Amino acid sequence: MSCEPLSLVNEGVRGLTPYQPGKPIEELERELGLSYIIKLASNESPLGPSPKARAMAMVGLDELSRYPDGSGTELRAALADIHCVAPECVTLGNGSNDVLELVARLFVSAEHEVVFAEHAFAVYPLVTRAIGARAVEVPARDRGHDLAAMADAVGEHTRLVFIANPNNPTGTWNDAEALRRFMAAVPESVIVVIDQAYAEYVDESDYPDCVPWLDEYPNLVVTRTFSKAHGLAGLRVGYGVSSAPIAELLNRVRQPFNVNSLALAAAMASLEDDDHLQRSIDINRAGLAQLRAGFDAMGIEYIPSVANFLSFAVPGDASGVYAALLREGVIVRPLANYGLGQHLRVTAGLEDENVHFLDALKRVISPS
Ligand SMILES: Cc1ncc(COP(=O)(O)O)c(C=O)c1O
Repeated sequence: MSCEPLSLVNEGVRGLTPYQPGKPIEELERELGLSYIIKLASNESPLGPSPKARAMAMVGLDELSRYPDGSGTELRAALADIHCVAPECVTLGNGSNDVLELVARLFVSAEHEVVFAEHAFAVYPLVTRAIGARAVEVPARDRGHDLAAMADAVGEHTRLVFIANPNNPTGTWNDAEALRRFMAAVPESVIVVIDQAYAEYVDESDYPDCVPWLDEYPNLVVTRTFSKAHGLAGLRVGYGVSSAPIAELLNRVRQPFNVNSLALAAAMASLEDDDHLQRSIDINRAGLAQLRAGFDAMGIEYIPSVANFLSFAVPGDASGVYAALLREGVIVRPLANYGLGQHLRVTAGLEDENVHFLDALKRVISPS
């Protein structure tokens, strides 16, 4: 008797579609035979990593036959220092996605609910449905998180809330006061993840670093990453900061060597290169301003973003514009699976990359 594998998995997985990453440059090269391609699809740093991080990763190549330090002792100590917490509060992940999944696997079972916002980062529904738990998607307000409605959506079955601050793909954010009100409204039995993957880019006076709130809110987990402003997306390293008891539990379910040795070495070096980080932030600020000016000149509406990307509304068929941009050698991200079918998302690139993108977009939307 044959058995369809689909019938063996939970209902959540049955309804899942795999996470759609940005189209790789090599794939587009193969498909269209183009020689100049720019990828502005995955919110990567156009500056790349610190040369110091690169150098340390190269040194690490000499030790590839060895397992990495499974506790990430040095990196956890350095991060603890930066965030003024004990090393026991830091959990390293294979990217911050790994930490998001660990938190969900640790606290959520099939009978629970997980609350997140409409248009929120795609990994939240993914990890929720993989467990077979119920995803409670709270309608967005002005395309951002409606924290009051999210607090109202927390019920007796809720175990976990994901808040992206700022959110991807909208670039929207919530201020300290609104987040504190949310934390105060939610019972301590509900774990709240505040995902700050893009925190380094945000330049708003009332944008909070939530790590210092851990003393007040024992149910809080803050996640950060080296993938964005640090330019280390390919190495996969991120982390969570939480109470020591939560970190100890995360450590129980974490794979023993979830962060590789090159990532550990490069992340350490990156933390010591403040100049490079600042350059990365400055380039992003200039890139966003350039993109906004270009959109304004073309009369294109975009969602105001404090991160390293802008989601813009496309006149007409967004998938057609996406495909036409590909033919121009520009990879952006379609957002239909985020409930934003009229939008595309573009990552702020280097100045000439942004010029290339804006010129291509102009040709695509108003062909002469
Ligand atoms: C909001 C948000 N959180 C987390 C991540 C995960 O990043 P990583 O796993 O590379 O740390 C991303 C990546 O795009 C993101 O946009």
